[in-house]
Amino acid sequence: MSIYLLAGFVALSAVWLLLRLRKGTGIKHIRGPPSPSLLFGHEAALFRQEEAGSLEFQWMKEYGSAWRTRGVFGTDVLMTVDPKAIQHVFQKSGYNYTKKTSQNFMGYLIAGPGIVTMLGEDHHRHRKIMHPAFSAPQLRSFLPLFQRIAGKLSEKWKGELVATGELELMMNKWLSRATLDVIGEAAFDYDYNALDAGGRSKLSTAYDNLFKDIDYQPSNAAILFRSAWDYIPMSLLKLIKYLPAEPFTRLRNMNILFRQYGKQILREQGPEVDAERKVNSKDVMSILIKANSSADAKTRLDDDELIAEMATLTIAGHETTAATLSFALYELARHPDYQERMREEIRAARAKVMTRGGTEFTTEDLDSLTLCVNAIKTLRLHPIAYGLPRVAVKDDVIPLAYPIVSATGETVSEIPIKAGQVVYSSFAGYQRLPGVWGEDANKWNPDRFLRIEMAKQPASVGVFANLWTVAAGIRACIGWRFSLIEMQAFLGELLEAFQFHLPREKIEVQKATVGVGMAPIVRGKPELGAALPLRISLVQ
Ligand code: HEM
Ligand SMILES: *[C@@H]1O[C@H](CO)[C@@H](O)[C@H](O)[C@H]1NC(C)=O
Ligand SMILES: *[C@@H]1O[C@H](CO)[C@@H](O)[C@H](O)[C@H]1NC(C)=O
Repeated sequence: MSIYLLAGFVALSAVWLLLRLRKGTGIKHIRGPPSPSLLFGHEAALFRQEEAGSLEFQWMKEYGSAWRTRGVFGTDVLMTVDPKAIQHVFQKSGYNYTKKTSQNFMGYLIAGPGIVTMLGEDHHRHRKIMHPAFSAPQLRSFLPLFQRIAGKLSEKWKGELVATGELELMMNKWLSRATLDVIGEAAFDYDYNALDAGGRSKLSTAYDNLFKDIDYQPSNAAILFRSAWDYIPMSLLKLIKYLPAEPFTRLRNMNILFRQYGKQILREQGPEVDAERKVNSKDVMSILIKANSSADAKTRLDDDELIAEMATLTIAGHETTAATLSFALYELARHPDYQERMREEIRAARAKVMTRGGTEFTTEDLDSLTLCVNAIKTLRLHPIAYGLPRVAVKDDVIPLAYPIVSATGETVSEIPIKAGQVVYSSFAGYQRLPGVWGEDANKWNPDRFLRIEMAKQPASVGVFANLWTVAAGIRACIGWRFSLIEMQAFLGELLEAFQFHLPREKIEVQKATVGVGMAPIVRGKPELGAALPLRISLVQ
């Protein structure tokens, strides 16, 4: 850790100087909580809050839809839960709001030069090559894979239940292995063998508990060091990769592993392999390789970028889905009535499938399972990405759907900001606004989606049910529909076969903050890592 301290303080002095030279940020008239620390602002408290989003919930009650907090080094941060403001920043402004280096660079260290870390034109280039792999027909073709892996998981559980009748298990760990198997095969035709081997393949152990190890309860030194990245030029920043300390050593080893597999895949499927041998490959990587070879020279990806895409899809695509599904099953365990209604709906649809002589659900069947789709909207109350920061590239004016009162008592419905202003959008907060979701916004109750009229909401936002959990705009989650179909397939399969209950021993599930994300842990037992225990039994 001493290396953090040293580098942190060198950067600190430079930043201090820089800040003294800077003009005011122009949002001083926006009210907000007093800063607990000159150096850390609210940042340390936010990184370490007990329950992801709880500070934001408290502040939105006090200040309304937007308020001012302090970042590290005494900077002003505009925080908002306002639908119009978030829509403006994420959905309407293109690249005029960019990613915050300190967070984006961690993505670079984890996955390399892939789509998540690219900015502006480079991002556009990556997105264009990736796009065909996430088209609707392409995604539909993954359904049999989702169903096969869900079926495999189901068989494993049934095997164990024969002897015991009921079983207590770490739901998130099982689902994480299943979704890893899914993403391996869908993304690059790789068999992680995670369900069979208990997640012990080389690649899967490489990032087991990765986010918890890097981002859970960071030390003050780590927070300072990482915040300083915002002020360091990229060329210098890239050297951080070689620091002989954790987590950088671990990340470096992980990158090396991915590169080995990536090179092998490119050798087997790359542009110089003749077309006939790969006609059947439908995984994302082979589509990327095809898209790359037909793109014009300026829009191509090089080998390193393509390999980074592989790592990116694995990391972005499995733990997110597994955690969301775990929270959905947790809520279903807490709401047995809803669970039973959902099961009835699935049974009725299954009967229809049988009558027409089929065996498996199609995507149309799954979409007709309204109660199931609404249960997936658990994303509202348990957002894996519970908020994101963006930085204004130029001076701008941010509109508000819900006006606020300024420090001088004026009503404010727009907030002018200067270039460089950090705007943090709390998706978790927005998703609990009573004005948008109803007075019972803090309750799970998916039946709200039967009565909510989306058209009457203050802003039509996001890509799914006016939720922000998968972001929106040019950087919307590219895999949200993949994830949705995957969750539909899993819920369809699992609810039909199993009943889900809370564990016998009373526990509290806590949403731990891990960087910009959150993960379930058992309160008082962080040493278990990400953990969401549930009990299952066979449906009678
Ligand atoms: C419930 C599951 C998921 C959630 C909550 C989620 C959430 C998000 C969010 C919030 C972003 C925006 C990040 C930002 O702009 O800083 C994002 C981006 C992304 N997601 Fe997801 N995601 C999920 C599943 C997936 C899956 C299954 C895949 C791949 C198959 C995937 C691949 C990506 C990629 C590649 C990006 C970067 C897009 C870009 O920058 O253009 N995600 N995701
Ligand atoms: C970005 O800002 C420029 C200059 O203010 C503006 O002309 C452009 O329309 C903005 N882009 C988007 C997508 O809003
Ligand atoms: C992308 O296409 C170009 C031109 O065909 C090729 O040189 C390059 O190796 C390709 N990249 C990958 C990763 O396939």
